[in-house]
Amino acid sequence: MDVIMIGAGYVGLTTGACLAELGHRVTCVDNDASKVARLKRAEIPIYEPGLSELIGKLVSAGRLSFSDDLAEVAPHAQLAFIAVGTPSAPNGDIDLSYVKNAAVGLAPLLKPDAVIVIKSTVVAGTAKLVRELVTEVRGRDDVHVASNPEFLREGSAIRDFLEADRIVAGADDRRAAEVLALLYEPLRAKGVPFVATNTTNAEMIKYAANAFLALKIGFINEVADLCEAAGGDVAAVADGIGLDHRIGRAFLNAGPGFGGSCFPKDTRAFAAIGRRYGQPQLIVETLIERNEARKAALSDRILSELKAGSRRVAILGTAFKANTDDVRDSAALTVIPLLKKAGAKITAHDPKARHETERHLKGISWADCPYEAATNADAVVILTEWEEYAALDLARLAKAMAGRSLLDFRNLFAAEEVNRHGLRYIATGRRPAAPISSIHSQPTGAGSGDWSEIAAAPA
Ligand code: UDX
Repeated sequence: MDVIMIGAGYVGLTTGACLAELGHRVTCVDNDASKVARLKRAEIPIYEPGLSELIGKLVSAGRLSFSDDLAEVAPHAQLAFIAVGTPSAPNGDIDLSYVKNAAVGLAPLLKPDAVIVIKSTVVAGTAKLVRELVTEVRGRDDVHVASNPEFLREGSAIRDFLEADRIVAGADDRRAAEVLALLYEPLRAKGVPFVATNTTNAEMIKYAANAFLALKIGFINEVADLCEAAGGDVAAVADGIGLDHRIGRAFLNAGPGFGGSCFPKDTRAFAAIGRRYGQPQLIVETLIERNEARKAALSDRILSELKAGSRRVAILGTAFKANTDDVRDSAALTVIPLLKKAGAKITAHDPKARHETERHLKGISWADCPYEAATNADAVVILTEWEEYAALDLARLAKAMAGRSLLDFRNLFAAEEVNRHGLRYIATGRRPAAPISSIHSQPTGAGSGDWSEIAAAPA
C-alpha cells in the first residue's frame, strides 16, 4: 500500500521504516528541509539500535523515501499517517496544534477514500476533531480518519513494532478498519492480536497503557523505599510478585524514577484529561508528584554520602534509560543541577547521551570512560543501566576513586561483590552493606536470604 508518514521524528521514522519492512511503499515527510536532506544522505538523526541499517536496506529496495513536499506526495497516498509532536502545555494538557496543522495541510491534497491515521499520542476525541476539520476544508466527508497509537520503547522500537503485543486500530467506520487490517496483514498473519475498536477507545488505550506502566514503576519504587527501611531486597520482592501472571515481572525494576519523552508527558496529559472531564485521576496525579520528588531526593541521598569538604561526584549515565541517547526527563537532568548547587564538582560519562545532555546542562566535566570519570571521585553514582556499567571492573573503579561510596540507582551489582572491593554500596531497595574490612569474606548467602542454589536444585 502507498503510505505517507508526516513527521520524521522518533516515532514517524521508526514506524515508517517498519511499515516499509512489512512490504509497503512509504514516504516520510517532514517540513524541516534540512532534516529531509540529511535523511536522503542516510544520516539518521536519532540513536535507535538497528534503525540506520533498516532504513538503508529499505531505501535501497525503493520502499522507503523522504520528502519535504507534502503537495507532491499526498495525492498518491492510500494512508496518511500523522506522527507529529504533541508537546505538553504547563498544566499537562497536550498541544494539538501540530496535529491540526498536519490535518489541515493534508485535507485538500488527499484523494477520496484515503485514510488519515493518527499515530501521535492524542487525547480522546482528537480523531473526531480531525475528521471535522478535514471535512470542513474539503467541503465533503469523503476521507476516513483512524487512530493507531504506538507502543514503541526507545532502544527496542523495531522489535516492539515487528513483534508487537497487539495492534490497536481505532476506526469510526468500517472502511477505515478494513484498510488498517490490510496494512497490518503481515503482522496479523504472524498472530499479532489486532484490536479493532472505535477511535475514542484507541486514544484512551494509549494513555491508560502508559499510565499503568508508569504506575507499576512508581509502585515498585515506593516498595524499594520500604525495603531499604525494613531490610528487604526490592529485586527479590519484584521477582516474587512478578511471577503472578496477573502482575507480571516487567516494569518492576526499581530505579531513580521514570523519565523519557512519554511517561512524564502522558501521565500529565492523562491527569489533565481527568480534570477536564471532572473525573480527576488522583492515583496518577500522586504518581507524578512522587516520581518528581524521587529524582530530587536522589541528590540528598548522594550528598549524605559525601564527607565534609569532599565534593567530587562521578555521574555514570545521563540518558533516561539504557540504549538511547535521549535525556528527556532523565534523572541526571534533575540530580546534576542540585548537586552543583550544593557545591559538588561533577564529572559525567554516558556512552551515547553526552551530546544531548550538553544541550541541556553546561558547566560539568565529561570523561571518555567511566574510570576516568571516577578518578579521584569521592562518590560514583550510576543513574542509567548501561551494560557497560554492569560490566565495570570494580577493582579498577575502587582504585581510581578517592572515596568509597558507590551509589547505584539501577541495582546493577550484588552488594557482596562491591563490598569485596572495599566499597560501600548504596543500591535501590536494599540496605547499604558495609565494606568487608577483614580478610575473612562473609559466607555467601549468610543473612542475604539468597538460597537460589536450593531453588535451582532438581526437585
Ligand atoms: C514508553 C512506553 O514503554 C512505550 O510503550 C510508549 O510507546 C512510549 O513510552 P519509553 O519511554 O521509550 O517507552 O521507555 P520505557 O522503557 O517504557 O521506560 C520509561 C522510563 O521508565 C525510563 O526512565 C525507564 O528507566 C523507567 N523504567 C522502566 C523503570 O524505572 N523501571 C522499569 O522497570 C522500566
